[in-house]
Formats: sequence, C-alpha cells, structure tokens
Amino acid sequence: MKERPFNLVAAVSLCAIVTTAQAQGTDPLGVGRRMLTEDNPGELWIDKGKQLFHEKRGPKNASLEQCDFGVGPGKLEGASAQLPRYFPDTDKVQDLESRLLTCMVELQGFKREDVVKRAISPGGSSGSDMEALALYITSRSNGMKMNVSLGHQKEYDMYKAGEYLFFRRAGQTDFACVQCHGEANKRIRLQDLIHMTSKKGVQEVVSTWPAYRGAHYVVRTMQWRLYDCFWQMRLPELKYASDTSIALTTYLHYQGNGAVIKVPGFKR
Ligand code: HEC
Repeated sequence: MKERPFNLVAAVSLCAIVTTAQAQGTDPLGVGRRMLTEDNPGELWIDKGKQLFHEKRGPKNASLEQCDFGVGPGKLEGASAQLPRYFPDTDKVQDLESRLLTCMVELQGFKREDVVKRAISPGGSSGSDMEALALYITSRSNGMKMNVSLGHQKEYDMYKAGEYLFFRRAGQTDFACVQCHGEANKRIRLQDLIHMTSKKGVQEVVSTWPAYRGAHYVVRTMQWRLYDCFWQMRLPELKYASDTSIALTTYLHYQGNGAVIKVPGFKR
C-alpha cells in the first residue's frame, strides 16, 4: 500500500483556511465541499493514526503493535472488515473502538476513563488519538468487503439486540432509528436521511466510517455518529463503547456485509 508521510504543511494550511473561514463567517460547509473536490482532508488523519499505532506511548511505554483486532497481533489488513466480533480474552463482542480501548488500557497502561473522555474530540480541533487510530486501522481494510460473522452465540445475541434497538421506539420523543432511517428520500431539516433498511443504503453507511465531517473539521467515528443520533432522539447519553453502541454497530455492519470499504468517507 502506498504510504505518505504526515503532511504537516498541509495540516497547518488546512487549519489556516478553517480559521479564516470561521473568522469571516463564511459558509463552513462550502469550505469543506471545496476541499473535498481537491482531496479528502481526512487523509491527514491516516498518517497521524499510523504514527500513533507504532509509537511507544502510555505508562507502559508500549506501541499498539501487539494489539489483536481478531486476525492476529498487529495484523490490520482486513481486521476492521470483520468487526464487531467476539474476543475470547475479554469474553465480549467488540467493535473497533472498544477493542482499541482494551489495547490502550492493557498494553499501554492508559486509564480507561481518560481515553473515553477524549475519544470524541471537540469540533475544529486536531482530533483525538482514537479518531486517528480508528481511521488508520479501518483504512487498512480499504478495498475489502465488509464480512461480519455471527458464528459465535454472543455475536448473534449482539446482532439481535441491535436489531431490536433499531426498530424499538424509545424516550420522550418516542423515536426509533427506523423512523428516520427506514425509508428512501426522507429529510430532516435540510439533511438527507440515509435509508438503512435498504441493502444499498446500509452498505453506503458501513463502508464510509470513520469519515471526515465537513461541519466539524475533524474525522468522526461510528461511535460518535451513534452518540449524535441518540442525542437527536433525546435519549439518555449513549456511553462510549457501551454494549448498546456495539449492538447497533453489529446490526448495521452485518446488514452491510459485502460493501467495499473506502475510508475516510466525507460527510457534510
Ligand atoms: C430524528 C431523526 C433520527 C433518528 C431517530 C435517528 N437518526 Fe441517525 N441520522 C439522523 C441524521 C439527521 C443524520 C445525519 C444526516 C447528515 O448529517 O447529513 C443521521 C445519520 C446517521 C448515520 C450515518 C449515516 C451516514 O451518513 O453514513 C447512522 C449510522 C445513523 N444515523 C444511525 C442511527 C441509529 C442507529 C439510530 C437509532 C439509535 C438513529 N440513527 C436514529 C437522524 C436520525
């Protein structure tokens, strides 16, 4: 795979464009769209994630090179295409981000709460380690097909829980995911709502996260996306890397099996 060094000059000039646009009050989305026509700025996060992956960090001064994402320690090719999956060492079904969290705690000695607190970065920032790592690791499955299996009982149970959550109405607004995402050509305000009960729609979703989010100027992950929809539904805050989030991702990823992964995606 062709690899590029982290382009500091481009990163700095990107920040400059963003700051100027914000200062002048111009349409930030327009800036994002223009950048997209040239290059997806999310590409910069891949190099950052690669560095973070190999760097010795944390209280244990270790890299993530021994982290097993399901296909063997340090093996990244095709790993995220099979996530979420069951891991015997934790006896849990884990998505990419919860697995990363396990490795950052077990191998590097970081405190779980600290990583979780910073996992979703503020908009306009340079992003979190988690966001960069998740993108780098997923990018190593680019061109491969989503291939989530439900062979283990716990994987099947997670899938069924996700399916239930997707269709069940909840909270003070009595919303279910399917109400916003269960039909073609639906919109809320000006935003198109992706039709996720169609194979094509769900495949588009599962193959494009982590994605560069134009409105936030950072790379966002699936954990963030689900957190944000929970917020829109006025449900209690979705806990980072919680079973609820993993259940929904298991459901969506399995539905999207066969989709060719291509990250970073670009979202408005
Ligand atoms: C009130 C409407 C609403 C509900 C209910 C809702 N969402 Fe969303 N969802 C949105 C909007 C709006 C977007 C973003 C569209 C945009 O930014 O262009 C979105 C985007 C998404 C995406 C990303 C699609 C893409 O672009 O790749 C996923 C995944 C998602 N939602 C999952 C869910 C799940 C799972 C639930 C249930 C827990 C849910 N949503 C409930 C409104 C909703």
